[in-house]
Parts: sequence; C-alpha cells; structure tokens
Amino acid sequence: MTTSNKNHTLNNSRKKAYTVPKLDKGFAGQDIISVSQFSRKNLEHIFAVAEEMRAIVKSRGSTDLLTGTVLACLFFEPSTRTSSSFIAAMSRLGGTVIPITQGVQFSSVSKGESLPDTIRTLESYADVIVIRHPEMGSAKIAADYARKPIINGGDGVGEHPTQALLDIFTIKEELGHIDGLNVGMVGDLRNGRTVHSLARLLCLYDVRFDFVSPEILRLPLDVMNDIRDHELPAAETYDVADIISDVDVLYVTRVQKERFADLAQYEEVKDLYVITPELMEQAKEKMVIMHPLPRVGEISYHVDSDPRAAYFRQMENGMYIRMALLAAVLGKA
Ligand code: NCD
Repeated sequence: MTTSNKNHTLNNSRKKAYTVPKLDKGFAGQDIISVSQFSRKNLEHIFAVAEEMRAIVKSRGSTDLLTGTVLACLFFEPSTRTSSSFIAAMSRLGGTVIPITQGVQFSSVSKGESLPDTIRTLESYADVIVIRHPEMGSAKIAADYARKPIINGGDGVGEHPTQALLDIFTIKEELGHIDGLNVGMVGDLRNGRTVHSLARLLCLYDVRFDFVSPEILRLPLDVMNDIRDHELPAAETYDVADIISDVDVLYVTRVQKERFADLAQYEEVKDLYVITPELMEQAKEKMVIMHPLPRVGEISYHVDSDPRAAYFRQMENGMYIRMALLAAVLGKA
C-alpha cells in the first residue's frame, strides 16, 4: 500500500533521478518534503479531513483507522510540538510509534551510522517516517533512499511543510478565508523554516506580504523570488509599528540562536521585536497573532489573553492536520 506510488528500486543505491513529486494523484504512498508539492485542491482535502479528525477527537478521543500501522519519528533536532503532535496523531488513529526523538544519542546514529542506513532500518519496521534534521535537503535525501513515505518535520533552515499546512488551516479557521488577506511576518525570516514554507504555500492564494526583520535576518532571495513569480505584493521593513495596523495575520517568529555562527550577532538582534498589549492596541479588531512556537520573549505573556492570540489554538490544530496527513499518506483518507 505505502510503497506502490514510489518509484524506488529495492537495491541499495540512491535513485539520482528522484524529484519531489506533486500530489495531484493523491497522497497515498507519497513523500511530504516541500510545500511546492501542494495545490489548493490538496490543501482543501487535507483541511476537510483535519476537520473530521477534530470532530473524532472531541467526540470519542480516537479511531481505529490506522490500527496495525507504525510511524517512526526520527528527530535529530529538539522538538516539542512537532514530535509530540505526530505521536499523538498516530496514537489517536490507532497506530503505534517508534520514537527516536529526544534520544538520538541512544540510537546507532551516535555510533556514526549514516542517514541512509538509519532510514533503511526504520523503514523495515515502520510504514511511514517523520524526520527532522539540521541539514537543509536532508528529508529529500532520506526520501531518495526510502521505499516508504518520508515526511519532512523540518530540514535545517530549509522547509517545515507540515507546519505551513497547520498555519494556513489555522488562518482559515480563525478568519474564514485566505484570499485578500494581508500577512505580516516578523523576526528571523532568514533562518525560520516555518516562514519559508508558509510564505511559499501562501503563494497559492491572493495575499499580500509585509516582512519585518533586521537587515541580517531578511527573507532569503529564493523565497522572495517565488513571491515575485506569483506577482504578489511584498514589502519589507525594519519596524513592526509600520505594519501593525494593516495586517490580518501577524506571524511572529523566534530568532533562531542555533543557526548563528557568531553569537555576538545573535545578541544584537535577539530582542528587537516584542509584541505587547500596547502594540496590539493599534492592530485591527479582527486579526490573528500566530507563532509556530517556542517563543523566547517575542510575544509578551500579557498578550495571551487577547482573543486575537491564536498561537495555542494553532498548536492544537497541528495534531488534527498531522492526523489527516498520516491517514492520507497511508491511503486511508
Ligand atoms: C519551529 C521549528 O522547529 O522550525 N517549531 C515548530 O516546529 N513548531 C519554530 C522554531 O523552532 O522556532
């Protein structure tokens, strides 16, 4: 079931011709590596299934849709929400999990085993693998070797496609639509993979962007070029006060300390943006503040009680989206 759509041989060599597939023939057996795979139709499907998953969880907690299937969670970088929401998602669907999350030091990776060998091992036990790894492109390499579906749970400063799915799902749930919105993104736009995936996926819609960052943390050129290719308006500024009254979505991100070679540079920019209740007085009455979390000071705790603060609802949505995605990739939705 899970292997049928993947064009992989069973031998040990890497398939050099492998390109990340579009999802126009459905999700069953497919890798989820990049948001570039998705169409609006794909998103509508996943969002509809996620709504059903939410209804199941609220009414009876779990279902037996994926009974007998196994997810391997291979996390080479720290994670709270992505790993635990995937584990919870699989559990609530009746499946089980091999968690190699906070404990990569206890796996043979710490003995120097290569990524392809680790993937080959896990795919002989599991039906689908979620991987988070510090190197950009690592999920694609894993998919290149694997016969089973690989889901990218974050590849360094590259992409975080499942986060972008839950982000857009949240915007739709909170504001009712995506087209016509003005989306502000604040913080570490250079290193934030959630920003890269979300900005790219939003290019499927008719939105305008306001990017707020210091010079050294500006949005990468390739992401900006994608936005230009879609002829969507995008402005860049240094000051969040310039945009706060205009935006429908304020997507705040942490400065990614672990990506800085020079920690003195991190110190210079780490506290530039703090969203406070005073700042929120200038924002629209109907808008949302989002954050992929973890936050390390860029949204004041006093903002949490503001009804526009959607980041905890966003986080909860992650489980429903990941339930939908697992069911879809395993051919059950
Ligand atoms: C993000 C990530 O890992 O990229 N967290 C997440 O998955 N919710 C954001 C971050 O670490 O800043």
